[in-house]
Amino acid sequence: PSLEKEFLPMYFGWFLSKRSSEILRKAGQAFLDELGSLKAFKKESKYFASAIEDPKIKIDLTSYFVKRPPGVLHCTTKYTDFGKAAGAEEYAQQEAVKTSYGKGFTLSISALFITTKTVGARVELSEQQLLLWPADADKILPTDNLPKGSRAHITLGCANGVEAVQTGLDLLEFVKLEKAGNKGDEVGEIGGGKLLYLDNGMWMLKLSKKIDVKAIFSGYYG
Ligand code: 2AM
Repeated sequence: PSLEKEFLPMYFGWFLSKRSSEILRKAGQAFLDELGSLKAFKKESKYFASAIEDPKIKIDLTSYFVKRPPGVLHCTTKYTDFGKAAGAEEYAQQEAVKTSYGKGFTLSISALFITTKTVGARVELSEQQLLLWPADADKILPTDNLPKGSRAHITLGCANGVEAVQTGLDLLEFVKLEKAGNKGDEVGEIGGGKLLYLDNGMWMLKLSKKIDVKAIFSGYYG
């Protein structure tokens, strides 16, 4: 009985298989490489000033997003901070969380995006996967009212001095612009899909063919 109190993880989420992590990392790398050598991107490269060596040749986005997650990639559902975060216990005690723990899922990646701070993959959650999504996650401001799962993402990299939590907030900015009717400028087709520019250094590649990744729902204990 004295062992009954559970020890909560730093966060819950879907942890990609090694193979899926490699596939997604490669897709992200190809996106950064292609974007960095694209004329339309170079024209707007002032937002990525520290990556410019010779703007006529290539913007080195790989070295711009220096902080890359080590090991397998993941999609955070709930950041529980070892039980200290608001709503941590409530989340962990949900039936869906308990029954899904350790189970396999297929996540669908619909887009890749960059901002001046982060690079990430947008995850489109199914109805079943949304059962594991916390109620309070899809907000930047308390007054935001965005569809459940709007924030679902996989961090691929962060710029110097930026923490991973930023990637989800950046994705929410894209969703807010979308909701406000700002569809962005269609820059054209590049490898993998349709490239959109939303100003302020925000770029999104809508994949013409979604990338399915295999993942296990679990907790990360640090
Ligand atoms: P990420 O999900 O965008 O990658 C450990 O820090 C993990 O928990 C990271 O993957 C990070 O971001 C996520 N994380 C950290 N703080 C968070 C917070 N306050 N809310 C949601 N996710 C957070």
